[in-house]
Amino acid sequence: MSRKDIRVALVGLGWMGQAHSRSLIRIPTLFADRKFNPILKVCADADENRGQQAVNDFGYERSTTDWKSAVTADDVDAVWVCAPNMLHIPIIEQACKAGKIVFSEKPIGGKPSQTLEAFNFATQNKTFTGVGYNYLWAPLVLHAKKMIAAGELGEIIHYKGRFFSMYGSDELGLLSWRFKFDQAGYGVSSDILSHSVSLAQFLIGDISEVVGMKETTIKKRPLPTSNSSHYSRGNVGDPTGEVENEDFASMLCRFKNGATGTFETSRTVVGPESENMFEIYGTKGALKWNHETLNELLYYKKDEVVETGFTKILSGDRFDFHGAFVPGQGNSLGTEDLICIEDYSFLTAWVTGESFKPSFREAVNVVNVQAALIKSWDSKSWEKVPSIK
Ligand SMILES: NC(=O)c1ccc[n+]([C@@H]2O[C@H](COP(=O)([O-])OP(=O)(O)OC[C@H]3O[C@@H](n4cnc5c(N)ncnc54)[C@H](O)[C@@H]3O)[C@@H](O)[C@H]2O)c1
Repeated sequence: MSRKDIRVALVGLGWMGQAHSRSLIRIPTLFADRKFNPILKVCADADENRGQQAVNDFGYERSTTDWKSAVTADDVDAVWVCAPNMLHIPIIEQACKAGKIVFSEKPIGGKPSQTLEAFNFATQNKTFTGVGYNYLWAPLVLHAKKMIAAGELGEIIHYKGRFFSMYGSDELGLLSWRFKFDQAGYGVSSDILSHSVSLAQFLIGDISEVVGMKETTIKKRPLPTSNSSHYSRGNVGDPTGEVENEDFASMLCRFKNGATGTFETSRTVVGPESENMFEIYGTKGALKWNHETLNELLYYKKDEVVETGFTKILSGDRFDFHGAFVPGQGNSLGTEDLICIEDYSFLTAWVTGESFKPSFREAVNVVNVQAALIKSWDSKSWEKVPSIK
C-alpha cells in the first residue's frame, strides 16, 4: 500500500503539543489501513529544554526556539499550533502563507475577532485546516450524533452543556498564561465553554441568540516560575498578580431549530474535576454524556423503557474508532485517544481529498456565540449570534 509521508512542524511542546506528538507517533501502530505516515520533522518551543525533549524523547529530527523558521521550512507539509492562544494567529498566518496544512488547538486566538482573522488567512491561501475540539471524537459522542440524526430522540427541545473544571480552584494555583488577557485573551468562555458550544453545534446545530453572565472568583494568584505548568502551585506569601479574565460564565440560549439551551462553565468550582458534559432532551428520548466517564452514554427511550429509566451504553469496538485502540466491549479509551482519532481523521481527510470538520470555519461558528455572549455581559440583554462573514 502506498503511503504519503507527511512532514510535521509542531509549535509548543506543552500539554497539548506533547499529546499531539504522542498521537502522531502512535498512529502507525493503531491504524494499519492508513494512507500516510507522519514524520516528526521539527518542534519549535521558546523553552530550549522542551526542544531537547522533543528531539530526545519524542524523536523530532530537530528543534528550534524560532517558530517562524519551523512553520515555513521547505521540508514541512503540516503545522500543529499548540502554543498559548495569543500566539495562534501570527503562527497560522505564516503557516498559511507558506502553503502548509494547519491544525490549530482551540479556540484559535484569544478573542473572537482573531479566530475570524485566522479563518480569513486560511481562506485566502486555500489552506486545509482543522481545530482541536477533541471531545467530538469520542466514539460515544459520534454515536450520539448518529442517534440524533436518525431521529431516535424525536424533536430536540432542550440542550444543557456544562464544562466545570477544578484546574483554577486552588488559590495557590499559579498565574499561568491562561489567566492573563495578553496571552490567553478571554478566560473560561474561550478556554472551556468553547468545547461545550462546539459539542452543541456538532450534535444539534447552530445557536441563534444568547444572554449570559460572568464572574472572576479568584482575583489574584502567585506569579509563575520558570518550568511551572498549568497545574503548578505556589506558596502562601509568594508575590501575586491580577487574574485578568473570567473564571465563570453561563448563558441561556436559543438554537436555530427552536430548541432552548443552558450552558455553564467554571475553572474555580470545587468538586467536578473535568466535567465536560451534555444532556439532550427530545420528544422521544434523552441522552447524557460526561467526559469524566467518556466510555458511558446514558440513553432514555420514551415508551419502551419508561419504567427502567436511563440505560447505560458502554463504549466498545462496535463504535467508530474504538476498536483501533482496544478490542471488545467495556475496555476503556482515554482523553489522549480522542486526540489520536482527531489527528488521524485530519490527516486521512487531507490525503484522501475529503473535507474535514471541525475546521477553522467551525471554530468561527463557536466564537460567534462567544462574541454574542461577551456583548450581553455589557448590555445585560439577549444578543443575536452573528453569522460567519
Ligand atoms: N483540546 C483541548 O482539550 C486542550 C487542552 C489544553 C489546552 N488546549 C489548547 O492548547 C494550547 C496550548 O495549551 P497548553 O495547555 O498545551 O499550554 P502549555 O502552557 O502546557 O504549553 C504551551 C507551550 O508553548 C510554548 N511556547 C510559549 N511561547 C512560545 C513561543 N513564542 N514559541 C514557541 N513555543 C512557545 C511553551 O514553552 C509551552 O511549552 C492552547 O491554545 C489551549 O487552549 C487544548
